[in-house]
Amino acid sequence: MTQSRRIRIGSRDALVANVVEHVSRAAHHAICARGIFSIALPGGSVAEAIVPVLAKASVPWQCVHVFWCDERAVPESDLDSNVGLTRRLWPAVAGTSTAQLHPMPGGAANLSAAALAYMEELTAVVGTPPVLDTVLLGVGADGHVASLFPGRPSLNVRHSAVVVESHAPKPPSARLTLTLPVLVGARETVVIAFGAEKAQAIGRALEDPWATTPVARALREANRVLVMLDDEAAGQLTHTKLERLE
Ligand code: 6PG
Repeated sequence: MTQSRRIRIGSRDALVANVVEHVSRAAHHAICARGIFSIALPGGSVAEAIVPVLAKASVPWQCVHVFWCDERAVPESDLDSNVGLTRRLWPAVAGTSTAQLHPMPGGAANLSAAALAYMEELTAVVGTPPVLDTVLLGVGADGHVASLFPGRPSLNVRHSAVVVESHAPKPPSARLTLTLPVLVGARETVVIAFGAEKAQAIGRALEDPWATTPVARALREANRVLVMLDDEAAGQLTHTKLERLE
């Protein structure tokens, strides 16, 4: 059951600025309280919009551990790589101490072994079971989050923090992904959707109590969730309380 849920709408620029402000505040708070801040980044349009702005935020990066929510089974040099995308958008991230940068090893020859190794890397920083400070998630038009797709067995994995998805309906089909318990068990999960093609998935997730898509489950199961929608993505909401950002 969600303990805290806020839903904000606005222009993309206002949403991006608000997410980055929110992440900066969460980082300062976490660093004061625990000495480090841990964040998991998405791929896709959300990474493209947020990462360049996040890169300029005033955050003590030397105390930040950066993980990824999911990665496609390609080397970082491939244009499909989520880690590669972040590195292109945020060149300085490459200068962050390698001890704090945790690229998901999508290019590994053995993905199952890579999933296990990534789980160990994650738990070494954020504990067992893993509790990240902030998880940023995009949403697919079919309601997927990270690389957890509707109807796929990986959506129900509870015994591991990282799994291999070999049949993702969105190419590339082979991927690594954090599991739902990790995505929703973060101190805060931020779900971000831009564009009319996301409106149906968002409408169902927020207004149909029987919806079982990954985004619906993430919104229902998260400890504390912030939903950020542009006007197009919020287009099918009729009775959800929204906060408008100016
Ligand atoms: C990925 C992403 C993925 C993404 C959604 C939405 O690797 O594909 O991490 O989960 O967030 O597919 O992508 P868009 O925002 O580009 O539609």
